[in-house]
This record gives sequence, C-alpha cells and structure tokens, in this order.
Amino acid sequence: MVNSNHIDTSERVLKGTVVIYHGDPGTTPIEKAVSVLDNGALVISAEGKIAWTGQQTDLPAIYKNTPVNDYGNSLIMAGFIDIHVHFPQYRILAAHGKSLLEWLEKYTFPEEAQYASKAHADAAAPIFLRQLFRHGTTGALAFSTVHEESVNALFAAASRHNMALATGKTMMNRNAPDALTHSADKCAVACQTLINKWHDKKRLKYAVTPRFAITSTSDQLQHAGDLLRNNPTCLMQTHLSENTGEIAAVEGLYQNARDYTDVYQQYNLLGPQSIFAHGIHLSEREYAALSESKSALAHCPTSNNFLGSGLFDINHSLDQKRPIRFGLATDIGAGTSYSMLATMAEAYKVGMLNNYSLSAHQAFYRSTLANAEIMQISDTTGSLKVGKWADITVLDPYATETLRIRQEVSKDFNDLLFALMMLGDDRAVEATYVAGNCVYESEQTAA
Ligand code: GUN
Ligand code: ZN
Repeated sequence: MVNSNHIDTSERVLKGTVVIYHGDPGTTPIEKAVSVLDNGALVISAEGKIAWTGQQTDLPAIYKNTPVNDYGNSLIMAGFIDIHVHFPQYRILAAHGKSLLEWLEKYTFPEEAQYASKAHADAAAPIFLRQLFRHGTTGALAFSTVHEESVNALFAAASRHNMALATGKTMMNRNAPDALTHSADKCAVACQTLINKWHDKKRLKYAVTPRFAITSTSDQLQHAGDLLRNNPTCLMQTHLSENTGEIAAVEGLYQNARDYTDVYQQYNLLGPQSIFAHGIHLSEREYAALSESKSALAHCPTSNNFLGSGLFDINHSLDQKRPIRFGLATDIGAGTSYSMLATMAEAYKVGMLNNYSLSAHQAFYRSTLANAEIMQISDTTGSLKVGKWADITVLDPYATETLRIRQEVSKDFNDLLFALMMLGDDRAVEATYVAGNCVYESEQTAA
C-alpha cells in the first residue's frame, strides 16, 4: 500500500535489526564502517528525525509509551538514494532492441514531449515518486524534461513529502525534436527562475542539467557553466562516455576538445557538485581530470547492460592514485528496475566481469551514504545517524520463497545481506519512511 500524501509526524519506535553505515566498508575496517544492531531500535522524533538508536533493551524510559512498529527480523536501513534517474521516462522501461542514440530518438524523445502539458506532468510526478517509495528509495537526483512544467511538478510532489530531491530543466538546443529544444539564452533565463523558485527550499536542490554534449551547443554549455558559477550550491548532472557511437558524435561536434570529458571541462562543468552518468569508456587523462576536480560518476549497471553500452570498471574508480567518487543509480528508463537492490546485483555481476567482487556492505554503502555525499546532503540523510532525517527503508531478507530457502544456509550477516542484494527487489521492501513519515507499506505489513 502506498500512502501517497500521508503525513504522520508522531513519535515512533521502529524495532528490528538496525544497520548503520559510518564510512566506506571498502577502505575502512568493517567494524568501524558499519554497526549492525540485532534486536535494535530506532526512535523517530515528532519532527521526523532520528532521535535515538540502540539495543531494544537500552531504550530510554521516556519512550516507553511511544507507539512501536515491530519489524521482527527485518533490517531497518537508510533509505536508498538514486543519483541518476529520469522522471519522464518512468513509463518507457524495457523498450526493445536499440542502442543509446536510436533509443533516445525512438522511445525517449516522444515520451518526454508529453511533458509540455502541465496536467500530464502534474499527474506523472506522484506516480513516479510512488515507484521510488515502493522500492525503498527516499532520495533522488533526477532528470526532468526541457519543460518547466516537469520541473515544477516534480519539485512540488517531492516537497509535499519533505523529500530530499534534486532536479533541473533539461538543457537542449540541438539534435533533438523542436518540441524538446529551447534557445540557449532563453533556457538559461528559465533555469535561473527555477533556481530562485526551488533551490534550497525545504530539502530540494536545483541541478543544472545539460542533457549531454550532443544536444547542447557550446553557447549552451557556457550558460550551464555560468549558472553553476552564479549558483555555487547547485548540483550539475549530465551524461558522459556511455556509448561508443555517442563518443564519436561528440568528437565530431567538439573538434577542439581533447576528449569527451574535456568538452565539459572547457565550460567549467567539472567539480565536487557535478555528477556524470556512466563514464564507461574513459581515458587515463579523463579519469585524472575527474579525480582532480572531485567530480562523481553514477554507475548505472542495469541501463548499461540493457542498452549494450559497456561495462563500468569499478577498479578504475577505486585506484588510490587518483580515486573517483562514484555511486550506484538506476537510470530509469534505460535502466530496467527501480530497485536499488536489483541495481546492486547487476553492479556485482558487472564487477565480476571486470575482476572485481563487490561486497554487499560496499553496495549498500554506495547506494546510501556515498550517494548522499555525492548529492552533498550527507549531513542530513544517507545513514541512520541520530539527528539526520528519518529516511528509512525496512527490508525483509526472507520476503520471497527463494530468499527464505536461501537464507536457511546463510552463515552470517554478510551472507544474509548478500543474498538479499542478489535476490531481492520491491517485494523485500516492507516499509519506507521519508522524513519520518511512512510513505509506503507492503500489503503484508499493512494487513
Ligand atoms: N544520454 C543522453 N540522454 C540520455 C538518456 O535519457 N538516457 C541515457 N541512458 N543516456 C542518455
Ligand atoms: Zn541517464
């Protein structure tokens, strides 16, 4: 059951196995990186923040009359954060048989053209957010369309839930249908108006959003750089080096650039506020430029496999000589699942094809705290630290018959978590809380 506009700000105790990430389990000793509290409890304050975590036996007496949601053996974890997802593509998942540029032309652009209608955008935004919530996702960095209507609709819907969400008007002024392009000058003015209206209101952030180098002229990328310079707390999101045909087209369009990354670099679009989706076919120079500028990559494995784009190599990002910040993301609608569990499972398989064995703890960390850091919101969300917003997903590691059978032989918590990540999906999500409000409960939980 999805509680679409349900606001329940009362104080509440959640009981279950509470899992708290403090740092990167890939580089920090595991006992420092994560706390796993069996028979744990978490208190949500009336304001919607995390007021207390610990063992149930240590629950302070002041909470003795507080209503309890007891989730038994389920895991109480930070809600997932999806750092690359396309709101207007929520209906076009699984569109058959095309690689990136053909897929955009055939399926994506016609669907995005619908968002010129305010009524369409306003109706779509709550449906999209409901999909995120039922998959345990509580925060997102999303593309909207070129239309202000889509940006307004998504921000308004997220604001009603007090959700952490960033989006922006997609900037395109060439190589796309007329219905999806906007002249560079007018587009920049419209973006600034949207920034003034939404950025830093409640938990919302504006992301300057040039779609990718193919659909923007250098004038428009210049405007994107200016917008970032004038609004330094905004994020920047775009696509980079996803597909070989795309890279060849960019080389043809920007002949003075050293490589694809350099196109963005020349317009001052690299930096700690910048999130580049994909980054699969990069040269050593490009990795070094991304590392030095503290830019982040969004690894979108279900999308990359679906479009046949290529295999993101985690080893490149983890190279300690020039590490690159990266997180996991769905890239709906080229991605084939809203589920960050399914995304982690695919990331594991892609890792194995590149000689990298991703652990469950690393995958959960990359889908929560690392993504919050990349969105520059980790002081208020991304882990179950006291004082942060109660953005929570409750996951049942025994949710399906397949999981129940598999968990019979789980040796320890790591093994249980790994099986959940490999075999779980939205059926494993028992409940989702955004800023302390229960926005989704599975039918079983609700019954
Ligand atoms: N590159 C430019 N636009 C898109 C998009 O909508 N999806 C994906 N996967 N890649 C893109
Ligand atoms: Zn994308």
